[in-house]
Amino acid sequence: MKIATVGKGGSGKTTIAGTLARLLAGDGHKVLAIDGDPNPNLALTLGMARDEADKINYIPPSIMEMKKDSDGNLKLSMTVSEEELIGTYAASAPENIDLIVMGMPADGSAGSGCMCSSHRAVRGVITEMSAYGEFTVTDMEAGLEHLKRGTAANVDTMLVVVEPYYRSLEAGARTASLSAELEIPNIFVVANKVKTEADKTAIDQFCEQHDLTIIGYVPLEEQFIEAERQAKAPIDFDSKCAGTKAIYDISLKLADMDINKRSLQPLPDKANAYAKGFAEGQAKADLSTKGK
Ligand SMILES: Nc1ncnc2c1ncn2[C@@H]1O[C@H](COP(=O)(O)OP(=O)(O)OP(=O)(O)O)[C@@H](O)[C@H]1O
Ligand SMILES: [Mg+2]
Repeated sequence: MKIATVGKGGSGKTTIAGTLARLLAGDGHKVLAIDGDPNPNLALTLGMARDEADKINYIPPSIMEMKKDSDGNLKLSMTVSEEELIGTYAASAPENIDLIVMGMPADGSAGSGCMCSSHRAVRGVITEMSAYGEFTVTDMEAGLEHLKRGTAANVDTMLVVVEPYYRSLEAGARTASLSAELEIPNIFVVANKVKTEADKTAIDQFCEQHDLTIIGYVPLEEQFIEAERQAKAPIDFDSKCAGTKAIYDISLKLADMDINKRSLQPLPDKANAYAKGFAEGQAKADLSTKGK
């Protein structure tokens, strides 16, 4: 399953992508995380140390090139094999996650360079790496540009992260409709930073009016805010808080849906470790369990 998080700036894309990747991997799935944001920060949310994150080699847009296939049609292809790409560029994040980082302008400096080649490279890598691991989780940049350029066209599951206020929901609806134009089969809303029943109702009503399916509600989580203050990954700061649990519920739904699982390695014994941990807290189910 190829998942991407999209949505308005600051809605929680990286928080959801990083924590989801950790939870899927914690349950024994092989996960490839892709940072497709030109300002990459998925590494820290996955739980990598700052000095390790700083050492990551970004994938240059030149990794993809146009080649003619046997019928003479031009096709975007990777210049290295999957193994070479992972060997050269992947960083090792907790829970055996491979992280690759892309999306910087061609010359690597902010404010310059052509972003088209970067968008093309992200699209190419998502496509070419589809056989690697069971799940790829791509954290996309904010806004609609990458959807207009078809960057995420080869993702099969789009998680549109929205906050409970009108402009965020509006942006979410536009994002979902562009995703639908790209014929992405699974498009789900993640209702993030939900604090009150009124927040939840506002999101429910908006999604109903716009025919959007909500996959889960993640509460406004003080522990995530504190984790950010302390520059820690949310899941490492508090793996049992309501916010993490809500994202875990989403991970279970996605894993359940994923009928085309492909794994490079046998699942480790720790499969479902998180499920066991969370089972204890089940009784205290919060907002995240409502609306199922
Ligand atoms: N459920 C939540 N509860 C509380 N705070 C949250 C929640 N989700 C995300 N945040 C906080 O919101 C801020 C933005 O989150 P994040 O960086 O994940 O958003 P983003 O959509 O990736 O942003 P950008 O568009 O800049 O890439 C961070 O400070 C994060 O800790
Ligand atoms: Mg982000």
